Amino acid sequence: MAASFLPLLLLLVFPLGSDCFGLKGCKFDAIFQFGDSLADTGNLIRENPATPFSHLPYGKTFFKKATGRCSNGLLMVDYFALSAGLPLVNPYLKKKASFTHGVNFAVAGSTALPLDVLAQNNISSPVTNTSLSKQLDWMRSHLNTICSNKTDCTKKLKHALFFMGEIGGNDYNYALFEGKTVTQVKDMVPRVVQTIIDATKRVISYGATRVIIPGHFSMGCLPIYLTGFQTNDSTAYDEFHCLKDFNELANYHNSKLKQAIKLLKKENRNVIITYGDYYNALFWVFRHASLLGFDRTLLHKSCCGMGGDYSFNVMQICGFPRVPVCSDPDKHISWDGIHLTQKTYQIMAHRLIHDVAPEFHCGN
Ligand SMILES: *[C@@H]1O[C@H](CO)[C@@H](O)[C@H](O)[C@H]1NC(C)=O
Ligand SMILES: *[C@@H]1O[C@H](CO)[C@@H](O)[C@H](O)[C@H]1NC(C)=O
Ligand SMILES: *[C@@H]1O[C@H](CO)[C@@H](O)[C@H](O)[C@H]1NC(C)=O
Ligand SMILES: *[C@@H]1O[C@H](CO)[C@@H](O)[C@H](O)[C@H]1NC(C)=O
Repeated sequence: MAASFLPLLLLLVFPLGSDCFGLKGCKFDAIFQFGDSLADTGNLIRENPATPFSHLPYGKTFFKKATGRCSNGLLMVDYFALSAGLPLVNPYLKKKASFTHGVNFAVAGSTALPLDVLAQNNISSPVTNTSLSKQLDWMRSHLNTICSNKTDCTKKLKHALFFMGEIGGNDYNYALFEGKTVTQVKDMVPRVVQTIIDATKRVISYGATRVIIPGHFSMGCLPIYLTGFQTNDSTAYDEFHCLKDFNELANYHNSKLKQAIKLLKKENRNVIITYGDYYNALFWVFRHASLLGFDRTLLHKSCCGMGGDYSFNVMQICGFPRVPVCSDPDKHISWDGIHLTQKTYQIMAHRLIHDVAPEFHCGN
């Protein structure tokens, strides 16, 4: 027990960047991020300024203004950038921004599957029509501005870190909240996983040499699921009061993704591809919540939001007029019922950096 806390305590004691598990030794010179709201640093608000993420209280803790990040502050990709000694990664749609150290292509609401494929299954994508393939097209356009031929592009991407996701969570979110059953949604998993793998192959063909492919986190613990699928059947919940069926779906996706990554690694022995275990990173936060300073009575309540048992109501979401914000976001795991607080992301990022750094064989 004591031994398992040791890395945690080291991570909490030493500030990021100076700790021995940091990414400085990897000598990354850029980060390229694909994904959705877990990683968007400002693309959706430029596509659609009417989204609630475009104004306070989003960003209130760290930036004192909204940046398009779906949290009160920094996201996991930001902590990776800081740990690598790089500036925060600018969103692709920010005009005149510097992309010297990479580009963030993630768009909140984005899906792995293209919209027409979702539509064939009667699933609509309500937030954005920029799915993963569009983000990859953006990458292609970006490369056209920074390199002139394949050799040149490969050289430019040689020291970059790629995040392929998390992506695909929204494909399942939309399907479930539009009325599909968990069993129906499970049928989508192979296709979603294949889309993520194909996208990774595409960035490898552009010259990516180090790629993190994150899985899904324990969605059955989020206020939006706890509210939308609330039930009096106590057997539906696990020991952390998370909905088992939805966590199991995330696990199912993750196990298929890990299998596919294994194969992909075999086919690309000169590329370091690693699974990003978001699921266990978040579950670990739930398990050690008190030790980490979270309030045990607020673990399933949104910081920003109102109503019901979980401070979440889909008609009165964070960012709408008169929706209250809690006084101390650091006591909450969930920021707005869907996304996590900066503090949660920080702890998850520390753990993930600790997990993946050895895989990248970075000297310190
Ligand atoms: C989609 O909805 C239409 C009309 O309700 C129905 O006929 C069709 O079978 C559905 N398709 C799928 C894949 O669920
Ligand atoms: C995607 O959305 C944008 C803005 O809402 C719209 O202009 C564009 O036509 C859409 N594209 C497709 C393929 O639906
Ligand atoms: C590729 O582009 C680089 C930089 O512009 C140039 O030096 C090199 O000669 C080009 N190589 C080929 C094969 O065209
Ligand atoms: C749970 O039970 C209570 C009391 O019987 C009832 O009012 C409530 O609607 C039930 N909730 C759900 C989600 O079934």
